[in-house]
Amino acid sequence: MEKTIDQKVDSVLKLMTLDEKIGQMNQYNGDWAATGPITHDGDKQNQIKKGMVGSMLNVTGVEHTRTLQEIAMQSRLKIPLLFGQDVIHGYRTIFPVPLGEAASWDMDAIQRAARIAATEAAAVGVHWTFAPMVDIARDPRWGRVMEGAGEDPYLGSLIATARVKGFQGKGFGNTDAVMACAKHFAAYGAAIGGRDYNSVDMSLRQLYETYLPPFKAAADAGAATFMNSFNDLNGIPATGNKLLQRDILKGQWKFKGFVVSDWGSVGEMINHGFVKDNYEAAMAAANAGSDMDMESRSYIQNLARLVKEGKVKIAVVDDAVRRILKKKFEMGLFDDPYRFSDAAREKQQWDNKDHLQEARNIAKKSIVLLKNEKDLLPISKQTKTIALIGPFAKAKSDNLGFWSYDWPDDSVRIVSLWDGVKKKLDPASTMLYAKGCEITDTSRAGFAAAIAAANAADIVIMSVGEARDMSGEAKSRSNIHLPGVQEELIQAVYATGKPTIVMFSAGRPLIFNWTADHVPAILYTWWLGTTAGDAMADVLFGDYNPSGKLPMSFPITEGQIPIYYNHYNTGRPASGDSDRNYRSSYTDLSIYPKYPFGYGLSYTAFTYSDIKLSANTFKAGQKITATITVTNTGKYDGTETVQLYIRDMVGSVVRPVKELKGFQQVFLKKGESKTISFSISEADLKFYNNELKYMAEPGDFKLFIGTSSANTKETDFKLIQ
Ligand code: NOJ
Repeated sequence: MEKTIDQKVDSVLKLMTLDEKIGQMNQYNGDWAATGPITHDGDKQNQIKKGMVGSMLNVTGVEHTRTLQEIAMQSRLKIPLLFGQDVIHGYRTIFPVPLGEAASWDMDAIQRAARIAATEAAAVGVHWTFAPMVDIARDPRWGRVMEGAGEDPYLGSLIATARVKGFQGKGFGNTDAVMACAKHFAAYGAAIGGRDYNSVDMSLRQLYETYLPPFKAAADAGAATFMNSFNDLNGIPATGNKLLQRDILKGQWKFKGFVVSDWGSVGEMINHGFVKDNYEAAMAAANAGSDMDMESRSYIQNLARLVKEGKVKIAVVDDAVRRILKKKFEMGLFDDPYRFSDAAREKQQWDNKDHLQEARNIAKKSIVLLKNEKDLLPISKQTKTIALIGPFAKAKSDNLGFWSYDWPDDSVRIVSLWDGVKKKLDPASTMLYAKGCEITDTSRAGFAAAIAAANAADIVIMSVGEARDMSGEAKSRSNIHLPGVQEELIQAVYATGKPTIVMFSAGRPLIFNWTADHVPAILYTWWLGTTAGDAMADVLFGDYNPSGKLPMSFPITEGQIPIYYNHYNTGRPASGDSDRNYRSSYTDLSIYPKYPFGYGLSYTAFTYSDIKLSANTFKAGQKITATITVTNTGKYDGTETVQLYIRDMVGSVVRPVKELKGFQQVFLKKGESKTISFSISEADLKFYNNELKYMAEPGDFKLFIGTSSANTKETDFKLIQ
């Protein structure tokens, strides 16, 4: 009879020496690229041959992966290596940064983007992507907001699910399915002050309510692996945190995959002051449930002694190794260790036009229209003279954003805004260009040429933002205003009186109040990836009517941070910005963001009817339906994301003023109306009480439906006993 995978795992485990077991728990960086502080030790290949390495990261390409796998096949038990890589928003084809994709609110498109990323990664020998990053982030100073889905646990959970499903495709065993890795477990996004790697201190209830849901969703969607995080959580480093890894993840959630540490995070527990040395670090991490040590070398150097001294039980090691081997079996690597290293597939996936098409599709859906006075947008393809101004107007690789790869033919493949506009504009029209300034420099020497170009044009499109490496890991910034003299450039160009459109390329919410208050049309384009310019041109010329909605609140100044829509009411809520005295407010600053969560305009206009409820009260086990009619009253066909929020008016613990509980994307032709229904049951009203019990409490609720978290219709209902 055919053995089950568990039986096969057990039969391999029986053959293994303690050192070989520990080898499976050891992951090294390859010698070709680094995404962390690199360590040079020349004998990795020897260690692979001795069975002392279970996985490598940053080894890609059929040739490299095959070479190392061949060495692994010379080891005594011939256990194949797993190759892991940060395929965060594409590999060969770069998609919008995850925060940008989140602005599409389009789960199918997000899933397809992950699917393509996996297909391309799998074709170059990669088995495992260190994605999705599912950290909730309420602080745009934190550079890693670009990697996640923003501030909301509900939206974040759906996106986590879509990405896991996308990466893992039809399931392991298929050569285009790669293992997903939900990271960084947990609460890494709540680093104090938005400073990367900083401590996190929060109530367990807050952890469960806000930060864990996307992880739970990823686990439920079958994520093969989790990565723990650099931060300490309530005084315990995540890597040595038993509550997180053993009790919650592997206990309550019954997660059957394995946990990899973050780069060096086992050894960094020494710096945290949690352990004295690498010996204690290995003990703390292994006992807490970190199954694989990425680049600390703590396990390989100390675990054998720890087991012999009884400090780490052999059962702990066996459990970790079982989890790792199981994935290797599921991936089919014991049958054919080279099945991902196929030169023909590598070649075939390298320049896949469908992938570029899909990248453009999600890129245009990720763009958020922030302002469009007097319907300046869309612009006509027959516009006589267009001036493209700003450091991003002809930018190529800056469109890719952080966590992306450079390829030798990037200058040809990446579509700049200039290229994209050129392809669509009437050939008889004229395009003018002026860079105006650099992204971070303070020189204004280019302003005169920019003003001259604007003066000679009928319409000015300005493209400004953050350089590719200004948001990302270790890219926290205390000042998130538009960098350099770019806003001064906007002012100088605007002063020409020419109709001006400003586009922002960035990985995080930036601050640009002058522009927001003066310039008539603004598009937030994030870092859109390989096809950036095509997607921007689709939107500028109205071939695509923008539909993006912000997945994060945009602050007016850094002084408001953290700012998020789903906050509590407090005992002294301010009713508005003129209600400040002895209120929860600032004496010198608004309490409202510049742009709220869920906000985004369209070239057309949508009007909402009042909400109708099928009943005003219901009991557990019953449902009510909320319906609303949305009408496209503007001049264009377009897609609207209809958002449903709920507020629990009285709780045994205080509840947020609004929580997203559903949304639907609806395409409406101009003049068309559609009735949208949302079904609400007790499950939508549940939360964690003070004993961390997930339940709903009978009482009064408000229900809101609208176009953003700050613009909704509302009604009331009751949950009764
Ligand atoms: C450190 C980052 O925190 C993590 O997200 C990444 O996967 C690893 N480095 C590997 O590059």
